[in-house]
Amino acid sequence: MNFQQKNIPFPVDQMKIINSIVHMQALAIAPEREGRRIAFVPTMGFLHEGHASLLREGRKRGDVLVLSIFVNPIQFGVNEDLDSYPRDMERDFKLADECGVDIVFIPTAAEMYPAGFQTGVSVRDITLPLCGASRPGHFDGVATVITKLFNIVRPDVALFGCKDYQQLAVIRRMTADLNLPVEIVGMPIVREADGLAMSSRNSYLSAAQRQSALCLSRAIKRARELFATGERSVAVLERETRAVIEQESAAAIDYVEFRDGAMLHEQEVADSGTLLALAVKIGQIRLIDNTVFGEAF
Ligand code: PAF
Repeated sequence: MNFQQKNIPFPVDQMKIINSIVHMQALAIAPEREGRRIAFVPTMGFLHEGHASLLREGRKRGDVLVLSIFVNPIQFGVNEDLDSYPRDMERDFKLADECGVDIVFIPTAAEMYPAGFQTGVSVRDITLPLCGASRPGHFDGVATVITKLFNIVRPDVALFGCKDYQQLAVIRRMTADLNLPVEIVGMPIVREADGLAMSSRNSYLSAAQRQSALCLSRAIKRARELFATGERSVAVLERETRAVIEQESAAAIDYVEFRDGAMLHEQEVADSGTLLALAVKIGQIRLIDNTVFGEAF
């Protein structure tokens, strides 16, 4: 494949790869002036079928489809996997091309966060529970990079996976609070045939850990079954969900929580719209999954 790295006007007949922020901004202005919609899928790369679902939907919703690949250093904690985060650019380019991406934007950390960088975007209450409690500073990093990417790519619509449910809620809140002119679309979790939610981090799992990791979706299915047969007590639902995970010796629960799907407030009585969110460590690998009662699995 011959991917060009040039600033070429639209329409494009070949996917472009852009590294520079000013090139990306200049490219984004053309469709804006011509009244053409930009659809945007921000990622950290190592793309899988979940990302492909976002790209395919983005292709339908925009005249120009932009994918960003940027492993954002400021959303990783000190002991997290920034250095080992999986990368495979050639494979990512191939999948992006197959999904009809027009522009792949791959900025460098040095250009995104030059010496002297001091500004951050911080979203309050909604970032405090769940992953925000175990990963302090994580959502500030996400909110900051997404704000920067929105200013660079200037999308009309941006697509995110519901697997990172809290991230999506934070981005929706931030976009509304800051009056950013971007429509935020959440797309359903894509699962492997056996139920494991797709994630770039699944590539860290050994074959045995991959089997152990099925306890997350098993626990969610158990909670959904109980909800479907009328159980509404969060205390009971939580006990039963935890019990499924605790049967798996390789699994260590970070959190199992039931919250309202909009503001992420705690609930004692579940209803249609309640979010069940899980974070579980399999060995050193932290996996998340979730479901919303009343919605498809
Ligand atoms: O979900 C991700 O891949 C990242 O958190 C995001 C949204 C691209 C921000 O770096």
